[in-house]
Amino acid sequence: MEEIKQNLAADRNQPVGVFDSGLGGISVLRELYKVMPEENYIYFGDSVNAPYGTKPLEEIRRLTITNVDFLLRQGAKGIVVACNTATAAAVRILRSMYPDIPLVGIEPALKPAALQPGHPTVLVMATPMTIEGEKYKALMARYEQKADIIGLPCPGLMEFVEAGNTQGEDLKRFLEELLSPYLREIDSIVLGCTHYPFVRRIIEELAGERVRIFDGGNGTAREMCRRLTEAGLRTSRTEPGTVKFENSLVKEEEIELSRTLFQKK
Ligand code: DGL
Repeated sequence: MEEIKQNLAADRNQPVGVFDSGLGGISVLRELYKVMPEENYIYFGDSVNAPYGTKPLEEIRRLTITNVDFLLRQGAKGIVVACNTATAAAVRILRSMYPDIPLVGIEPALKPAALQPGHPTVLVMATPMTIEGEKYKALMARYEQKADIIGLPCPGLMEFVEAGNTQGEDLKRFLEELLSPYLREIDSIVLGCTHYPFVRRIIEELAGERVRIFDGGNGTAREMCRRLTEAGLRTSRTEPGTVKFENSLVKEEEIELSRTLFQKK
């Protein structure tokens, strides 16, 4: 651990480490690259163990700690937990394990959705684990005076993205069935899982223009930029950085799919 800390302090040109249970965190990686294009990134997707959102808390914690350890060993100078589920389950433990490393998690973007004028009705789409977790309950308690908040666990949704399916008819039917009971009453939707921005277009089509959609990816990227700056760890390079994809599913197709999602409009 000491050794890792010293390496960190020594080189601000080391990559930023980003991970998720699978490929969803690439939606956050894209925001990071927009905010800090000159940084190098290493992205780890734990697709072998996905989904996390239906697993017991202790198992998610164990997997999350293993992922962070892997990224630090690869030379990451800071960590973005690009998974709402892993953040809810383990961010506090990670902060106490690595107090000197810039470490940022993601949580459902409930604040901007709930603070829209007129006491809006907000639908939070997330994994079962996120919705049941203490962190989400605390977040909800903070905004329940400002909005009517409905938590919608979406087991089965991330699997479409993992399979590279972001616009199929089967996916459209799945989302229609999931969302139709709420569409008439809601004013906004929070994408509380990093896989869901990849199916945002279908959600927008189903919900219509009236419903606003919120996602925490950009805020997380800006927070990481702030943390790196504060720690004096922003790169000195000015040319565009590199992105390296790693996955526990050691298959070239998985890396190809990661690149495709990264470049997806
Ligand atoms: N992408 C993850 C999140 O943001 C969850 C997907 C899963 O593994 O269930 O919550």
